[in-house]
Amino acid sequence: MNHEYHKSVLVQEALDGLEAVTARIIVDATCGDGGYSSELLRVMPPDGMVIAIDRDPQAIARAKDRLSSYQDRFVAVKGNFCNIDTLVTGLGITQVDGVVADLGVSYLQISDPERGFMFMKPGPLLMNMGDDCRVNAETVVNEYSGEELARIFWEYGEERASWKIANAITRFRQTTRITTTRQLVDIIRGVVGSRFEIKSFARIFQAIRMHVNMEIENLKQFLPASLRILKTGGVLAIVAYHSGEDRIVKEFMREQANPCTCPKELPWCVCGKKPVLQLKGKMITPGDEEIRNNPSARSAKLRVAQVIGKGGAV
Ligand SMILES: C[S@@+](CC[C@H](N)C(=O)[O-])C[C@H]1O[C@@H](n2cnc3c(N)ncnc32)[C@H](O)[C@@H]1O
Repeated sequence: MNHEYHKSVLVQEALDGLEAVTARIIVDATCGDGGYSSELLRVMPPDGMVIAIDRDPQAIARAKDRLSSYQDRFVAVKGNFCNIDTLVTGLGITQVDGVVADLGVSYLQISDPERGFMFMKPGPLLMNMGDDCRVNAETVVNEYSGEELARIFWEYGEERASWKIANAITRFRQTTRITTTRQLVDIIRGVVGSRFEIKSFARIFQAIRMHVNMEIENLKQFLPASLRILKTGGVLAIVAYHSGEDRIVKEFMREQANPCTCPKELPWCVCGKKPVLQLKGKMITPGDEEIRNNPSARSAKLRVAQVIGKGGAV
């Protein structure tokens, strides 16, 4: 077993936002290597409990092994966080003090060439975080239309050469099936040239990964589902690395903090929608030192909000 663990990002800031030192039950919705869970258990009261969720069975196994000394204070569940409410109530727990999600991909996943996440390492084109994905990267690249590919590359990767890369893929696959990260890298390089290739590799691989794992769709379901298990006073803390994901988190928190849909001209509210969340401070990004020690933290954005009522339409 690989014992180099994922470097957790913005951990202290997340613990502070979650008020972990006084919390009884916190859900770590993206367990990964258990980095957040481990810090939570360290600072929570001695009877405090962490329920950790991950769709990746390898992550669950490693985190269980790493945190076994916490015994029944650490409960790890394999599942998709879009079902956070049913996963937690399935354990007989109806209300929790905090929910934290550290989105994206873990070191465990990207460091294994056999899982196909990395453009720097040759491997099969897979990119599945868990065994619950409907497609893998090979299916996307070989079976989607050029139009669909270009949309995915643009929407999730903001790659300017989306159309050209999509066309190069459809041309290539007329004669040869694309089954490896190396083949995909060579096709992208053929379009963008070596000067900008690294950024384009990163954007295209990220876009395919986000599509394969339905990361945006899952996040959109997860946010309201997490409110169904947070108690009044409970805290939701999300770390996002992709601008599209951060936008979804920001808009969700804002909507739940200001749900009133009445026209501005009305002197008082008639829609009756009451705030469910209160924003806790401003968006937080890592400091220079954290970015120096862990360059993959550079795009991280943490947003925290507290449940103040249960009257909203979630
Ligand atoms: C950035 S890592 C978390 C790292 C963790 N905070 C740590 O410090 O070790 C993100 C994890 O979320 C998991 N994940 C992503 N989307 C998920 C989803 N929809 N449901 C459950 N787990 C998910 C991934 O499998 C990955 O293990």
